[in-house]
Amino acid sequence: MINDAFSLFKNKIYRINLIDLFKRIQIIGERTNESGGVAKFFFGPLLVHVVTSPDDASTVLSNCMEKMFVYSMIEPYIGCELLAAPFSLWKTNRRLINHAFKQNILDGYTDLFNKQAERLSVAMAAEINKEYDFRKIITRILLETSFHTTMGIRVNNNGVIIDNYAKAISRVLEILVVRFTRPWLMFDSIFYWTSLKKEQDQCLQQMGNLSDEYSVYITENRIKNSLDILIERTVTEENQILTDHQIRLIIDNILTAGFDTMSSQVLMILINIGSHPDVQKKIYEELISVMGDEDRPISKTDLGRLTFLDAVLKESIRLYPIAPVVARTSTTDVQLNNYILPANCHILVHIWAANRNKNFWGPDAEDFRPERWFDGSVPSQPVSHASFSLGRRNCIGKLYGLTFMKIIVARIVKKFTITADENKLELEFAIMLKPSRGHLIKIEPR
Ligand code: HEM
Repeated sequence: MINDAFSLFKNKIYRINLIDLFKRIQIIGERTNESGGVAKFFFGPLLVHVVTSPDDASTVLSNCMEKMFVYSMIEPYIGCELLAAPFSLWKTNRRLINHAFKQNILDGYTDLFNKQAERLSVAMAAEINKEYDFRKIITRILLETSFHTTMGIRVNNNGVIIDNYAKAISRVLEILVVRFTRPWLMFDSIFYWTSLKKEQDQCLQQMGNLSDEYSVYITENRIKNSLDILIERTVTEENQILTDHQIRLIIDNILTAGFDTMSSQVLMILINIGSHPDVQKKIYEELISVMGDEDRPISKTDLGRLTFLDAVLKESIRLYPIAPVVARTSTTDVQLNNYILPANCHILVHIWAANRNKNFWGPDAEDFRPERWFDGSVPSQPVSHASFSLGRRNCIGKLYGLTFMKIIVARIVKKFTITADENKLELEFAIMLKPSRGHLIKIEPR
């Protein structure tokens, strides 16, 4: 069933802040769920189909391989080689870079992930017994790790540089949101004359400077990083030579897609755990039964045995998908369950609402209940993992992210009792979802 199109962003969308913007995005999702999972909205003058039925979301993401035109605005930031690439170019580039995310390469990161998780818990230990916003500390560690695994660059212990880089990225994303919510700024010919464009250029320059400053390669005993593998593949695969510029853009895309998503997701997981002492207790008991009291790194075998923790991560990622909407364009008609999407239409797959769709998840869809992943109430795979997107253009870093987050959370819960209050949580939409500044978590040593 589908609604008549109604206006999505009346009442001066261009004046609203990032928190209210996300509230509106939530309302769109709820209204679409009430309409049966597909609805039409006007975004200014633009007609957009919104999809929240998980089955239909899967159909769209598996059949509509072109991204919506708005992704081209990301170009100055990470180029249009992967995330925002046209499908034909994406196919070639993704095949080359897939090798960097194979299991054997990820296995090589386990030591590094453990060391970084340990450094994070040491940094967090300096802020015990008080409510604290851990975002900066978490972001630092994750960005350092991204630099290491994408380019082999070590920027550890250089807090100021890392913070400036993270700040510049955050601001670029906010500027993108400003453009999305003021349709006239979507036109480059107008945007280029604004002070926002100048500010965006300054941020991009700051980010570029850091990559240049640290292009010192570690030569001994180093793990293989994405850049090594990409260069190897472009040399060994015939006719697949990428220019230096293309390589840089693909690597920048992986670097930036990897750390910001992760730092928000780790925060969300800690907030969920801190708000559910019963869940936290079970995680701790599982950690002790798998690893004992010993303070040691987490091995690949341990990871496979931490099944309750696994369910906690899945549940938190379901309820708080850091990329709450993704957008595609259809090139042919697409048959959904009860509707045919016409060719050349703009489609928002509303992951947030699909992950909370009661027809699919049941009446307790909004509840944080990790047990659902054990008791047979989770419907078919892979639709239930839509937070990493679905189909061929899904998140390349899904396994990397899940492994690293599991190690981080395991180490933190083993050392600290976490307290948080998810009722106080306010979310901002800055392309990615994040807890608004100042959401507080308290940790106490066990
Ligand atoms: C909590 C963690 C993460 C979540 C929820 C997440 C989610 C997503 C989603 C939804 C997309 C599709 C975006 C779209 O179509 O607009 C995506 C794409 C992507 N992600 Fe992730 N991501 C996570 C972590 C990572 C990590 C750790 C990396 C890298 C190490 C990464 C690298 C990428 C890249 C390169 C793409 C573009 C893939 C392509 O177009 O081929 N992500 N991610």
